Amino acid sequence: MLEPIKLIQQEVEQSQPRTTEDLEAFRLKFISKKGVIGQLFNELSQLGPAEKRNVGQALNKLKQQAQEKYDFCATQLQAAPQQAASNHEDYTLPPPSDTLGSQHPISLLKNKIIEIFEKIGFNMVEGPEIEDEWHNFGALNFAPNHPARDMLDTFFISQSPDILLRTHTSSVQIRVAESQKPPLRALSIGRVYRNETISARSHCMFHQVEGFYVNKGVSFAELKQTLSYFMSSLFGEQVQVRLRPSYFPFTEPSTEIDITCRVCGGTGCNICKHTGWLEIGGGGMIDPAVLKNCHIDPTIYTGYAFGMGLERIAMLLHQINDLRLFTENDIRFLRQFKAYV
Ligand code: DAH
Repeated sequence: MLEPIKLIQQEVEQSQPRTTEDLEAFRLKFISKKGVIGQLFNELSQLGPAEKRNVGQALNKLKQQAQEKYDFCATQLQAAPQQAASNHEDYTLPPPSDTLGSQHPISLLKNKIIEIFEKIGFNMVEGPEIEDEWHNFGALNFAPNHPARDMLDTFFISQSPDILLRTHTSSVQIRVAESQKPPLRALSIGRVYRNETISARSHCMFHQVEGFYVNKGVSFAELKQTLSYFMSSLFGEQVQVRLRPSYFPFTEPSTEIDITCRVCGGTGCNICKHTGWLEIGGGGMIDPAVLKNCHIDPTIYTGYAFGMGLERIAMLLHQINDLRLFTENDIRFLRQFKAYV
C-alpha cells in the first residue's frame, strides 16, 4: 500500500488550486472522508499488525500534508482572490496589447519600396553580405588604388583572396548581370557595412536599395522618370527631383539624386542647409566597362542604375535626427512606426 500513498503524495504536491472551485475539488479528493486518503484509511483494518503500523504512519503524514496544502491555498485565496483567479489563464482571451511588438521602421520602408517598384516590373534579388573584391570593387570599375578599397573604409575579412563585408548593394548588379541575360530589371535591398565611427550621422552598418535596368536602348530619360515616379510615390506628389552631375566609377554619366526639402518645402531651412534640396542617393548610366565585365555587349545594351540609403530616407520621412536610433532597439522609438499608407 506504500506505493499508492507515494503516488497520491506526488499528486498533492503538484496540484495548484488557484480558484475556490479548484480548492473545493482538492478538498473533496484529498481531505474529505470519502476522498482517496480516507479510503486508504478504511483499508488499514485488513492489514497485519506490523504493516498496519508502517502504512498508518505514512497515511497520517500524507493526510497532514494535504491538510497543510489546503490551509495554505485557502489563506492565499482569501488574501487576494482576484489575483489568484487571474493566474488561471483563459486561452480564449486576446493577448494583452503591450506584449505585441512592432515592425522596425526599416522593414516597413523596405516593404513600401518593394511595393512601389514591383508595380513597374522590377524583380527582387538578393546578394551576399560577405563579398569578394571583384563583385564589390573590381567589376564595378574601381581603380586598383581607389580610396574606398582602403582598410580604413572597408571591413576586410581576409586578404588575398580579398573577402570583405560589402560596402554597397551595387555588388548585386554584378551578381545578377553576370549570371543572367538582358533584359534585366531588378531591385535589391539589404545591409551594407563601412568602417566608420558610429555617430548621429554615420554608422558602420546601414541599408541600401539598389535598382538597375539593362536592355536595348535604355536611356537617361528613363532613369529620370523612374526616380520621379518612386519619389512621388513615397514622399507625395509635391516632391521634386533634381539630378546633379557627379562621379561614380561604375556609371557614366553619373548623377547625385536630390529631392526638395520636406521640412521647408524648398524655401530653405536648417535641415537642408538653406539650399531647399536634400541629397538622397546616386545613379547614372551603367559604365560600358561594367557591362563588359559581366559579358554583356555594351554596343548592343545600355542600362541605368541607382542606389539610395534606407536610413536616410526614413530620417527624412519621419524627421529622425539620430542614425543610432535604428539599431538601439528602444521599444519607445520602434512603437512609433505603424505602416505606410
Ligand atoms: N553605390 C553607391 C554608394 O554606395 C550608390 C550608387 C551610386 C549606386 C550610383 C548606383 C549608382 O547604382 O548608379 O554610394
